[in-house]
Amino acid sequence: MTQLHSMHTHTCNELRLEHIGQEVTLTGWVWRRRDHGGLIFVDLRDREGVTQISFDPEHSGGTAFHTAETIRSEWPIKVTGVVRERPEGQSNAKLATGEIEVLVSHIEVLNTSKTPPFQIEDHIEAGEDIRLRYRYLDIRRPKMMANLQMRSDFTFAIRQALHDRLFMEVETPALFKSTPEGARDFLVPSRIQPGHFYALPQSPQLLKQLLMVGGVERYYQVAKCFRDEDLRADRQPEFTQVDIEMSFVDQDDVMSTLEDVLSDAFAKMGVDMPTPLRRIDYWDAMDTYGSDKPDTRFGMELHDVTGIFTESKFKLFASAAATEGQYVKAINARGAGAWPRAQIDKLAGVAAEFGAKGLAWIAFREDGSVNSPIVKFFTDEEMAALRAEMDAQPGDLVMFAVADRKGADEILGGMRNHMADALELPREGHDFLWVVNFPLFHWDEERGAYEAEHQPFTLPSTDDLEAIKADPLAAGSCTYDFVMDGYEAGGGGMRIHNSEMQLAMLEMLGFTIEGAREQFGFLMDALEFGAPPMGGFALGLDRVCMLLAGADSIREVMAFPKTSSGSDLMSDAPSAVSARQLKEVGLRME
Ligand code: AMO
Repeated sequence: MTQLHSMHTHTCNELRLEHIGQEVTLTGWVWRRRDHGGLIFVDLRDREGVTQISFDPEHSGGTAFHTAETIRSEWPIKVTGVVRERPEGQSNAKLATGEIEVLVSHIEVLNTSKTPPFQIEDHIEAGEDIRLRYRYLDIRRPKMMANLQMRSDFTFAIRQALHDRLFMEVETPALFKSTPEGARDFLVPSRIQPGHFYALPQSPQLLKQLLMVGGVERYYQVAKCFRDEDLRADRQPEFTQVDIEMSFVDQDDVMSTLEDVLSDAFAKMGVDMPTPLRRIDYWDAMDTYGSDKPDTRFGMELHDVTGIFTESKFKLFASAAATEGQYVKAINARGAGAWPRAQIDKLAGVAAEFGAKGLAWIAFREDGSVNSPIVKFFTDEEMAALRAEMDAQPGDLVMFAVADRKGADEILGGMRNHMADALELPREGHDFLWVVNFPLFHWDEERGAYEAEHQPFTLPSTDDLEAIKADPLAAGSCTYDFVMDGYEAGGGGMRIHNSEMQLAMLEMLGFTIEGAREQFGFLMDALEFGAPPMGGFALGLDRVCMLLAGADSIREVMAFPKTSSGSDLMSDAPSAVSARQLKEVGLRME
């Protein structure tokens, strides 16, 4: 694609053999510069690519050459010259423009540059802090530029896919009221109404439901969301969702429309997402992969081995087997059975991160022997049953978790991912699936209350309120998460469109009627004015782009991300504000 600016005739990624003999003008940054026996070669870089330009003291009276002697890395320049074939043996097959060069007759220095604090190269060693502090230089690196271009292309593709299917993009406010998605709100004090605050939306959830009440029917928005939570490689305080909602639909309508939209957008990126996508029930995903966002490109599935140890002399397993709700589960990490003891011992520390109190294991050595602190307690029958269940072969490492169902799943799910990384299991191509039917609630120990697993507006899978109240933790919900390569890349569900049901749910979550009205009165009111059946979804744009880019952090696909402590290293935000500004919004620092 041609990038047209008034200053140049071609981009730095455009010239080929067919342009030989043409006079061209290029603009860009001085990248690498080489002096070769009286000739100067410069790689000129713009956003599209690189072109070699050459300066010859014998050419055009040598003026361009003399200027070229003074130019330094990262100076922006404009050059005019004739395209010529590179001499025999000097073409560069790795470069799209590698067969030609431009012999410069005129150069204009557009600006100078200080020496950059790090090399503008893809394989730089520079720490991330320095990259973030000088992000504008980091963005000049071809990889970062390619990531931003890819993100732009994907965002465009998904917008187009939605637009083609009659979705309407509607913008919703960023200064709003708390929209609970399970994180803390960012608050913005009001100057005009001292002592009052806006909350930045954790998602446009409530607003899109109101748009459905308003009759929009098919809504989308590329929406900024704000969540004050602990940051990780796949989490930023400010991130982007492709937010979607539909009305007069059932769950299958929504999911098949989403599959259609997503596969269309992925296809534009050269990624095949076969539809219909596999649907895995939440508990099946947990019990089989130990995760509600499983990567199914590798096996290492969880096995319930509780039944093998009901009579065991190994007390830990036997007492779990005798206790209602307790499980002994195991995974088999093929290849790790050959690890030295010290390396295996370290795994207990890893398991602890996922909630384990210890880690029982059996290493099946390559020579047929068995190394393990626990097998001495096992009978031959137990050992044989275990070998059969786990298909244990020489070279295998079987690890156990003893806990309640979810606890054991989560420990082994964490170990499964850890071992896949440690053993460098191949995970080629992309893995797409739905995880469906999440529980409606989980119990929050800290607050001593039920919490919505997705969010408080999710439609339960039954309308029998009494049954839900009788056993809240057994209640299911009309929900679906979109899982890509072991990441939660999106999530959604059907919504409650009945105000009584909504109020009952809020009560179950610990709201008083007054509290619910105060925070969500506007939603409850709207539900009383003919709210249609509705459901929707939000795609985590940053996460999907990270996976498309093959990056290991969403920061690599964001122009100006924040550090794990929430800082912007370039501008030093967040920063102190003046006493006057505080006073204006009616605040005082303690
Ligand atoms: P949810 O909270 O699951 O659903 O968010 C949807 C998707 O957004 C991405 N995501 C994030 N990405 C980067 N940084 C974060 N801090 C972050 N938090 C979430 C994830 C996630 O799957 N309103 C509902 C959607 C709906 O029900 O329609 C919602 O926000 O990829």
